Amino acid sequence: MTWHRQHLLDLQSLTPEELNTVLVTAQVFKKVGERAIKKVPALRGKTVINLFVEPSTRTRISFELAALRLSADVINFTAEASSLKKGETLKDTLHNLESLNADFIILRHGASGAPHFLSRFARSHIVNAGDGAHEHPTQGLLDTFTIFERKGRIEGLNVTILGDILYSRVARSNIWALVKLGAKVTLCGPSTLVPRVFESLHPQIKVTWDLEQALRGADVVNLLRIQHERQRASAFPSIGEYASLFGLNAARMKWIRPDALIMHPGPINRGVEIESDVADGDQSVILQQVTNGLAVRMAVLFLLNGGRASELGI
Ligand code: NCD
Repeated sequence: MTWHRQHLLDLQSLTPEELNTVLVTAQVFKKVGERAIKKVPALRGKTVINLFVEPSTRTRISFELAALRLSADVINFTAEASSLKKGETLKDTLHNLESLNADFIILRHGASGAPHFLSRFARSHIVNAGDGAHEHPTQGLLDTFTIFERKGRIEGLNVTILGDILYSRVARSNIWALVKLGAKVTLCGPSTLVPRVFESLHPQIKVTWDLEQALRGADVVNLLRIQHERQRASAFPSIGEYASLFGLNAARMKWIRPDALIMHPGPINRGVEIESDVADGDQSVILQQVTNGLAVRMAVLFLLNGGRASELGI
């Protein structure tokens, strides 16, 4: 199973076969991460540049570690300390990095579509690490991988995504991966952040503003942070009101099946979308998501480089 893609820009354009190839390949890399020697030579001699034009902690560290574990050379480039601040265009930045023979450019950008734009000029592989409110494909893949690992399947599962759907790139990437692999997706949150129009994306998507209904019967509940940095006007009266109407706490856990998974891409806001006893409780897989992110990002870099899991001999 190989990928015939130069870039990973979104999950909307991936086929179910391509999604499954990532899941299978990530399983192999997860095993690599459990060994005493966690490194493989697959990307030796290649250069990976983390071009982060928007803040990030876990995603940047995860990509950096993924590249290092594949034996690539890694350079971290943050907007604050770069010529982007001196008026250089993103396209010129790309050409400069490619003149240094960069093989992979991992781009996080506040503008939706920035990675698609760069991919039109790129010789290197562009990987979208989150573009505005559009997509965050490796987050969608690692969430899907975590569900698959814990539930043994994706098809037929009921997955509820709860929170700020409108401004969330994580929601969009999760939606595409999950519906393509046969899950049913329920979107829930305040009506201002969960517009009915999401139902027109795919017949397996349902919108509800009734929290109890969204939680009962869910196999997975994926919680999202309020994206204050992207909201142009306040979508609800106060954080306190959001927490009291939609925050996941012990009382509301009674509506959730005991075998359901509680997920969150991070950073979590304790006391807002999630109470500490839920975040740290038995049903939470939040930290497993972080671990799996590394395996999934190794798989993505490896596949974009033309690798196939069967070659690894692991
Ligand atoms: C997400 C992001 O940046 O889109 N975080 C992440 O990558 N783990 C989610 C968020 O910021 O809420």
